[in-house]
Amino acid sequence: MVKIMERKELIDAYLDFFKSKSHKIIPSSSLVPENDPTVLFTTAGMHPLVPYLLGQKHPLGKRICNVQKCIRTQDIESVGDEVHHTFFEMLGNWSLGDYFKKESIEYSYEFLIKILKIPKEKLAVSCFKGDANAPKDNESAGIWKKLGISEKRIAFLEKEDNWWGPAGNTGPCGPDTEIFFYTGKKTPEVFSPKDKKWVEIWNNVFMQYNKNKNGKYTELTQKNVDTGMGVERTIAVLNNLSDNYQTDIFLPIIQAIENISGKKYNESEEIKKAMRIIADHIRAAVFILGDKHQITPSNIEHGYVLRRLIRRAIRYGRIIGIKNEFTDKIAEAVIPLYSDYPELKKSRKFILDNLKLEEEKFSNTIEQGLRKFHQLKGKNLNGKDAFLLFQSYGFPIEMTLELAEEEGIKVNIEEYESELKKHQELSRTSSEGRFKSGLADNSEKTTRLHTATHLLNEALRIVLKDNNIKQKGSNINSERLRFDFNFPRKLEENEIKEIETLINKKISESLEVIKEEMSISKAINSGAQAEFGAKYPRIVSVYAIGNFSREICTGPHVKNTKDIGHFKIIKEEGVAAGIRRIKAVVE
Ligand code: SER
Repeated sequence: MVKIMERKELIDAYLDFFKSKSHKIIPSSSLVPENDPTVLFTTAGMHPLVPYLLGQKHPLGKRICNVQKCIRTQDIESVGDEVHHTFFEMLGNWSLGDYFKKESIEYSYEFLIKILKIPKEKLAVSCFKGDANAPKDNESAGIWKKLGISEKRIAFLEKEDNWWGPAGNTGPCGPDTEIFFYTGKKTPEVFSPKDKKWVEIWNNVFMQYNKNKNGKYTELTQKNVDTGMGVERTIAVLNNLSDNYQTDIFLPIIQAIENISGKKYNESEEIKKAMRIIADHIRAAVFILGDKHQITPSNIEHGYVLRRLIRRAIRYGRIIGIKNEFTDKIAEAVIPLYSDYPELKKSRKFILDNLKLEEEKFSNTIEQGLRKFHQLKGKNLNGKDAFLLFQSYGFPIEMTLELAEEEGIKVNIEEYESELKKHQELSRTSSEGRFKSGLADNSEKTTRLHTATHLLNEALRIVLKDNNIKQKGSNINSERLRFDFNFPRKLEENEIKEIETLINKKISESLEVIKEEMSISKAINSGAQAEFGAKYPRIVSVYAIGNFSREICTGPHVKNTKDIGHFKIIKEEGVAAGIRRIKAVVE
């Protein structure tokens, strides 16, 4: 008999099991990746381990496991069915150049059979079929067969199903083998991956290759294993539930929504959908607000995702008849469920206050906005009106698109985008669709841009003669750096020139970049720059560039400024009241 487990039991059993296989348990990292500017949120357990997958030595050794809090923004609009979530927890075990396919598959099998007590007959697996770049993964299939998985239960699938990474254009990647559990009554003899009753519960990725920028795959010297098991999904299948929202993870949240709305979850499909959206989105909002970065709702980046989640939950609250403000009350049901994340209890007031504040703001405009939407929509909604709904009524464009879809009409999104550009209010593109997941881009180019950002931070204070200038945000990809800072006005042409000249002078002085670890208080006392409002660990790394700049940072950086190349500012603009943004490149 499959072992019926609750969330905490599964997590403990998993970590205990891998501990018994000499894995060291690491804590869940922040929801905001520290070293990866290419994504907004941590999307998988491997994310915080990227430097170690790329060869850096992990202080705890070569065998690591944890449960990681994750957010996947591409799923926001899919939430409402039985299985989609924005926030979820991922169990993971990693081999950083230690064991490979055999042990990885054997461990998974042992955990499923011995600990979760899943009969072998209910399992099936998929392996990589092979293509021009990499051969068929007969090795994994052979290991499964030796363990007693019948050939009929092994499917060989294409790259889109059985390959993971690289997340950006280049980096480690490899074939994976996915493990499926049959959720129906009588398990068919043959595994057919299209049958929805076969639910994927575990993904073992064998990071065996490196993809370079010409699209060529070469064997990696350090072969890694990266596995991921979704907690919500696994708990549902262990409890024989097709609806993740009926598990112990969600029941108290659903009950809170029932109490507030006076409706019952099972009343209708429409109510179920609304309650799932509210439960998922408020749970995600609680974790985003409770994260150490203290993100608050806004019109850019993480804050925009948070705003979308809260506002979509409010709209669905209205659909099930909740008239009063309610999101903080749902959050009060979420926080005690996750006592193993102490940050939530610690930030309780911050979480509840920010939910209340955001709900107050949106409550003032949602009814009028909905009326306006119905007034405006003719056959289709033009971009100017979609922008009006955003600008004056606080409807994120995704909400307008969802409303339009419900009414069977189209929105002129190109026109909306060009309206938006005109107003230069928000960068929606940054809220999603950047890169799906994964590997930090620690390329040589981004490293040069990282160090250039420190020079820029310092040069701004010097050239603009304002010591109060602080970093308000930074984002680096392989093309350019982007740096936000507080300053009340547009920069003059000659000031931009002067900043560039100063930075290029420092580059040509061949200053050494030196990293030192120290306590946060020592770092601040030594004059190191810190990002305003950011939270730091007790011990931080301070990067000094000659005598010119000192800044708390996790890197990576070049060793000497001469490696940066020529620095050039390509844009200077305002992004919010009192906040300027510079984009720059190194050539
Ligand atoms: N990184 C892989 C995934 O996200 C395995 O954890 O599925």
